[in-house]
Amino acid sequence: MLHNEFIILNNGVKMPMIGIGTYQRVVDEDLCEQSIVDAIQAGYRLIDTAWYYMNEEAVGRAIKRCGVDRSELFVTTKVWFTQFEEEDCRRSLEDSFAKLDLEYIDMVLIHWPYGNVYSAWRVLEEYYEAGKVRAIGVSNMTPDRLVDLINFNKIKPSINQIETHIYCQRVEDRTWNDKMGVATQAYSPLGQGLASEMTSEPIVIEIAQKYSRTPVQILLRFLVQNNIAIIPKSTHLERIKENADIFDFSLEEEDIKLLRGLDRGKPRGGDSNDPARIFTCKNW
Ligand SMILES: NC(=O)c1ccc[n+]([C@@H]2O[C@H](COP(=O)([O-])OP(=O)(O)OC[C@H]3O[C@@H](n4cnc5c(N)ncnc54)[C@H](OP(=O)(O)O)[C@@H]3O)[C@@H](O)[C@H]2O)c1
Repeated sequence: MLHNEFIILNNGVKMPMIGIGTYQRVVDEDLCEQSIVDAIQAGYRLIDTAWYYMNEEAVGRAIKRCGVDRSELFVTTKVWFTQFEEEDCRRSLEDSFAKLDLEYIDMVLIHWPYGNVYSAWRVLEEYYEAGKVRAIGVSNMTPDRLVDLINFNKIKPSINQIETHIYCQRVEDRTWNDKMGVATQAYSPLGQGLASEMTSEPIVIEIAQKYSRTPVQILLRFLVQNNIAIIPKSTHLERIKENADIFDFSLEEEDIKLLRGLDRGKPRGGDSNDPARIFTCKNW
C-alpha cells in the first residue's frame, strides 16, 4: 500500500507527509539498512538521515536494493554545525553525496542553528541553484531565528524540522512557520523514548478505542491532521507498518481538542534556545 499523502513545499516540490527516521547515531548499520528497505516496501517514500548519524552509506545501500525507482523516493540529509564554514560545508555535502551514492538529494537541512549558519545557508543556496538539491530547509529553528534567516537571504527554507509530538505541540512555532510559508516536519513524533507514556494516556486510549486504531496511530494521525509531516523511527517491521497506516481515517474536531489538552509546551531534547545547551553543543 502506498501512503501517498504529500505537502507541496514553497518551491513547488512535493514532499511525502510520512518518512522513516534513522537516528540513533551509529545504530547497527545492517539494522538501519533493513528498516529502510522494510519501510519503502511498506509504502514509505521519504527517508530522513543526516551526516551526523553516520548511516548515510547504509541509507544509500537500502535505496539501491529497495526495488523502488530513485525518482519515487525523497531523501533528506542534514549538515552538522561543525561544518558550517563555506569550504567545510561544501566538503560535508560532497561527503553526503558520496556516502548516499546519489546524483541529487531531495532535501538538505541546517541540522542545528549554531555557529556560522548564514555561511552554510549560502552554500545550500548554491547547491539548490545548481540543481543538485531539490529543496533546502532548517531544523531546530525557533521563530526569531527563522524570520531573521528569511529576511537576510535569497531563498526561503522549505521546511523547519522540529521536535513535535502530543506533549510538545509547538503551537507558536507552527504559527510562524505557516506565516513564513515554511512547512513543519515533526521529528520525534513519538517523543523518542516517550511512546509508552503517551500511549498510556487515558484520553489517547479512549480515542483509539473509538476509532478502532492503536494509540500510536492516534498520536501520529493527530500530527498529520494538523498538517505536520512526520518521520517516526522504528526498526521493527510491524511498527513501521502500524505507524504508516494512518491515512484512511480522520479524527473528529472534539477529539483533536482533547488531544490538544495534552500539550506540555516544552520540547524534550529539541530546545535549541537553551543557553546551557548551546554552551555545551561542541561536545555533542
Ligand atoms: N533534526 C533533528 O535534530 C532530529 C532530532 C532527533 C530525531 N530526528 C529525526 O527524527 C526521527 C524520529 O525521531 P526519534 O527517532 O527521535 O523518535 P520517535 O520516532 O519519536 O521514536 C522512536 C522510538 O519509538 C519507538 N517506536 C516507534 N514506533 C513505535 C510503535 N509503533 N510502538 C511503540 N514504539 C515505537 C522506536 O522503537 P523501535 O525502533 O525499537 O521500534 C524508538 O525507540 C529520527 O530517527 C531522526 O531521523 C531529527
